[in-house]
Amino acid sequence: MRIYERYTDAELAEMGLSGDRPKHVGIIMDGNGRWAKQRLMPRSFGHRAGMEALHEIVREAHCLGIKTLTVYAFSTENWRRPIAEVNALFGLLTEYFEKEIDELDANGVRIVALGDLEPFPQKVKACMVDAIERTKNNEGLNFCIAINYGSRAEIVSAIKRIVDSGIPSAQIGEELVSDSLYTSGQPELDLIIRTAGEQRLSNFLLWQAAYAEFVFTPVCWPDFDTAEFRRCIAEFMKRTRRFGKVVE
Ligand code: FPP
Repeated sequence: MRIYERYTDAELAEMGLSGDRPKHVGIIMDGNGRWAKQRLMPRSFGHRAGMEALHEIVREAHCLGIKTLTVYAFSTENWRRPIAEVNALFGLLTEYFEKEIDELDANGVRIVALGDLEPFPQKVKACMVDAIERTKNNEGLNFCIAINYGSRAEIVSAIKRIVDSGIPSAQIGEELVSDSLYTSGQPELDLIIRTAGEQRLSNFLLWQAAYAEFVFTPVCWPDFDTAEFRRCIAEFMKRTRRFGKVVE
């Protein structure tokens, strides 16, 4: 089991990452299928390689002092994929938690699910619920896994919760809506990285992305390594964020 060490200031300076790094990074892990196809392998081979890439990126996020990492693992639209691929993804999710939970927990990682776990097979649901329960008091990296997640569904569920609570419309503001989303309590989303060259959000963190920066990389997710992750963070750090204001 590996114990993750935070990078020292000197190490961060050497990487060109001194300064304000993002607190919350979202990643659309795209390109597993294309990566596998290029190798004349089934799509599930790409997803397995993607799971291995994720292991390194979670560790790196911790070492860089990122507070929240949110990854898009399974969208509300992914149910439309062939059943064999959906089952392969469920198998990988279960395997991931069985293999990683001790290391994640030992390193203070807190696992959070964004999405409705109800429709998942019992085994997948149980291992996610166990991981969430076991790590809920950890204070290190918040590792949010968007699973059966769709941003529109998230916003609809937030609206329903607010309406059901009977809060008068005059009291509904942005803060209440934010607090009613799955990401309630997480820092503002600073950066969205999408791999494999596509430049769209695909129903990921629509509300939260209001002032996020976007970095697109042509690298397919299974090849997305710590060097590429750092490059994306460095690109974010070069941006001037104005949040609608004028910066002198
Ligand atoms: C998108 O690539 C990727 C997914 C829909 C699934 C992401 C899953 C993993 C990285 C592996 C397991 C995850 C966990 C949390 C253990 P795609 O299949 O759409 O690629 P393509 O666009 O090239 O076809």
